[in-house]
Amino acid sequence: MTVNQNFRKLQSSYLFATIGKKVREYQAANPGADIIRLGIGDVTRPLPAASIAAMHAAVDDMSRAETFVGYPTDYGLHFLEDAIQADYALRGVRIELDEIFLSDGAKSDTGNIGDIFGADNIVAVCDPIYPVYVDTNVMGGRAGELLPDGRWNRFVYLTCGEETEFAPALPDSRADLVYLCSPNNPTGTAMNRTQLQTWVDWANEQGSILLYDGAYEAFITEDLPRSIYEIPGARTCAIEFRSFSKTAGFTGVRAAYTVVPQELRADGAQVNALWSRRQATKFNGVSYITQKGAEATFTPAGRAQVRETIAYYLHNAGTIRRGLEAAGFRVWGGVNSPYIWLKAPHGLSSWAFFELLLHEFQIVGTPGAGFGPAGEGYFRLTGFGTAERTAEAVDRIRRRYGEL
Ligand code: MLT
Repeated sequence: MTVNQNFRKLQSSYLFATIGKKVREYQAANPGADIIRLGIGDVTRPLPAASIAAMHAAVDDMSRAETFVGYPTDYGLHFLEDAIQADYALRGVRIELDEIFLSDGAKSDTGNIGDIFGADNIVAVCDPIYPVYVDTNVMGGRAGELLPDGRWNRFVYLTCGEETEFAPALPDSRADLVYLCSPNNPTGTAMNRTQLQTWVDWANEQGSILLYDGAYEAFITEDLPRSIYEIPGARTCAIEFRSFSKTAGFTGVRAAYTVVPQELRADGAQVNALWSRRQATKFNGVSYITQKGAEATFTPAGRAQVRETIAYYLHNAGTIRRGLEAAGFRVWGGVNSPYIWLKAPHGLSSWAFFELLLHEFQIVGTPGAGFGPAGEGYFRLTGFGTAERTAEAVDRIRRRYGEL
């Protein structure tokens, strides 16, 4: 009897689970502590009213034999894919229905996509980056061994630093699968058309595949691409992941989608066919009720409600950004993203700053080092809290910044 040896290489706990545990321990030791949680990117606003109404109606559908739905795919239903297709069309992007794969989350899909690629591929990840890309490739046997500097010896690292406003530069060595996330988790910065075109041209030239995580596209406020497919050439080199989680408050409902263009080929195979085979075997689709809720986010009322929610979170992000800047912090993100990335003061390490904020200010954030070695010395806060608590958190920090 053996286990997948790759799991032994991982840290025993996932980043956000470690943080959750630390916060629970602190709360247990300090029951009266008034903790403000700006750590994990979990939403706080309720679902759009249009989604709630659609989901209630869908529950009623399930109560009658004539409108009952079992496996959604077996019923030939693709109303949500239709709505997604129409949404892409609004940006001038043509996506076929059989290129859209519904799922329960961008986390699942960015994690599972490795199933269809060989273990000998070279993976490139930004540093810092969402830990799921790294951990799932460790599980899949593509990481090699962990080096003393906290990096894996088979990965290509795209270090994203202040000099480039945290945008990744092209690798100077082979990279078969490249994870890109824009707007970026954790740094909150978004890539522009020129930057994305550079990546697409490079990937087509190299025969590499871009795994483009667009989970935060709804937060883009400036004139920037919302989809990799707005970039000419992307259909032959990119897979795009999107989610209703941060867009429409579905973190507790679960709905997302991944687009795999028909033209995308790897190792002589059609990638769309591989992903279709993988999903048909391991996944039974998104519940009918959930799909109805997600579809409603594309109606005029749903769109307006989503815009309102996004504006609410962006307002919070602005509150944090401006407040911390005024207090003397160096801050990035928070404009096209719910995330604010800041430099820990006085050369503190990410985890030292985490402990200080928790113990002295009762504020929870995410240590930058949890997103990779290049995140050391940085820290992430989110705009996903309530407006009142966000303002209170900024106030706590500003009032006592001198004590830091
Ligand atoms: C985060 O805080 O980075 C996100 O909540 C992670 C996720 O969406 O899985």
